[in-house]
Amino acid sequence: MWLLLIFSLLIFSKGLSARNPGIRLQITQKGIHIVNTVAADLLTKNVKTMKITKQTGHDINVNYDLTDIKIEKFQLGKSSFTRYTDTSLRWTAENIDLDIGGQYKYEYSRFFVKYSDKGSFTVNFSAMSFKIIIQLGTDGSGRSTVRTFQCVHTYGPIKYVFHGGQDWIFKLFAEKAIQGIRNQIQNNICGILKDLVEKNGQRVLSNVKVKIPVGNSMMVDYRLLSVPSMSTNYLEVHLRGTVLWRNSQTEASFSPATFPSNYDTTKMAYIAISNYVFNTMLYQAYRHNMLVFNITSRNIGYKKSMLNTTCKDNCIGKLIPQIAKSFPNCSVELHMTSTKQPVTNIGSIVSVTAEGNISVYVRELNNSLHYLFRVLAVSPIYTM
Ligand SMILES: *[C@@H]1O[C@H](CO)[C@@H](O)[C@H](O)[C@H]1NC(C)=O
Ligand SMILES: *[C@@H]1O[C@H](CO)[C@@H](O)[C@H](O)[C@H]1NC(C)=O
Ligand SMILES: *[C@@H]1O[C@H](CO)[C@@H](O)[C@H](O)[C@H]1NC(C)=O
Ligand SMILES: *[C@@H]1O[C@H](CO)[C@@H](O)[C@H](O)[C@H]1NC(C)=O
Ligand SMILES: *[C@@H]1O[C@H](CO)[C@@H](O)[C@H](O)[C@H]1NC(C)=O
Ligand SMILES: *[C@@H]1O[C@H](CO)[C@@H](O)[C@H](O)[C@H]1NC(C)=O
Repeated sequence: MWLLLIFSLLIFSKGLSARNPGIRLQITQKGIHIVNTVAADLLTKNVKTMKITKQTGHDINVNYDLTDIKIEKFQLGKSSFTRYTDTSLRWTAENIDLDIGGQYKYEYSRFFVKYSDKGSFTVNFSAMSFKIIIQLGTDGSGRSTVRTFQCVHTYGPIKYVFHGGQDWIFKLFAEKAIQGIRNQIQNNICGILKDLVEKNGQRVLSNVKVKIPVGNSMMVDYRLLSVPSMSTNYLEVHLRGTVLWRNSQTEASFSPATFPSNYDTTKMAYIAISNYVFNTMLYQAYRHNMLVFNITSRNIGYKKSMLNTTCKDNCIGKLIPQIAKSFPNCSVELHMTSTKQPVTNIGSIVSVTAEGNISVYVRELNNSLHYLFRVLAVSPIYTM
């Protein structure tokens, strides 16, 4: 299902700027094949619910009724999605078998000769095929569009069998009645395809979130940068991948670097995430003073006594005996301020380089804060 979602993401688009994406999705033929399987299943289900109206009519001496016409079997022989242009795909299905069943009734009357009969009949369409173009696009508001064009379908031989009755009477009306059924199928199949792609596509698309919250105050902007492009190997989707402050929307002033090319097609999909995504998050946090925080025994949770000046085993008082001596039975607080925007680097390891002042205080017994010293920390603060 996630692949369907990714597939539908391609249809988002906003603006046509030449900037690099923060996130790149590449869906290979293997991935597209999953979409094909799902689409083929949906089509089979939808076709089976197609209503075919009854065929009634009369010819020289005969009145006939074909009723209860139902689709009994619909089977796609071969279905595939392939590149058509840079921004469109072609859905092709071949060797489709379609079997229809129903009830017939006729009355023949010529001078004094009268016949009437009823029974069941089947019509089998074989070697049907269709082609339809799916154009990927954008409506300019960050939401996407999928449109279908150029629906073409063809039919192979049609076989029909009427059970019971008189063959020479069937000959009088069968061709015409079957033609009526065929016309309905012909008229409906493209409508079903169009609905399937456009309505289902749109429903999936409108449920995809293009801005996803991160914490309480930020969000990631996943809007498309451009209309998804179709190459021989991939359906490629470029997303902004920028982190925004929820109520200000100011973007970071730097841009993502170009992604290296990927030639691997053995997986279904490839997702590349730029340093840029993390750096815009840190940029927003820094800009909005989120990288200013205090560490006190009230908020460290784990090993609260670490900040005590007096203790038996492990605490800051043991580390810096001068503090233990001057301020017994107190606790230390660290007030941290980042002085520069931290920068993430994603290579074979992930590292975050940060810089900040750490001011160290003692919370005295009368609850006043006593300033001790300041540390300027410059370090990769996180690696893995
Ligand atoms: C036609 O379709 C019916 C119903 O699926 C099936 O029973 C019958 O064998 C088919 N006939 C031919 C000639 O394929
Ligand atoms: C840290 O503590 C100081 C002194 O109690 C206070 O003025 C400051 O607002 C605190 N900073 C944060 C981010 O809580
Ligand atoms: C640490 O200090 C707090 C009061 O600041 C005290 O309640 C606690 O017992 C101390 N912990 C240790 C291990 O001394
Ligand atoms: C620190 O606390 C301990 C135990 O509560 C007490 O024995 C000692 O006198 C206190 N020291 C000071 C300087 O208050
Ligand atoms: C960090 O500390 C230095 C002195 O060590 C000071 O000049 C600077 O203003 C401090 N920066 C912040 C953001 O507190
Ligand atoms: C708290 O106590 C220290 C000495 O123990 C003193 O210097 C300071 O003025 C006192 N602060 C207040 C607000 O009473």
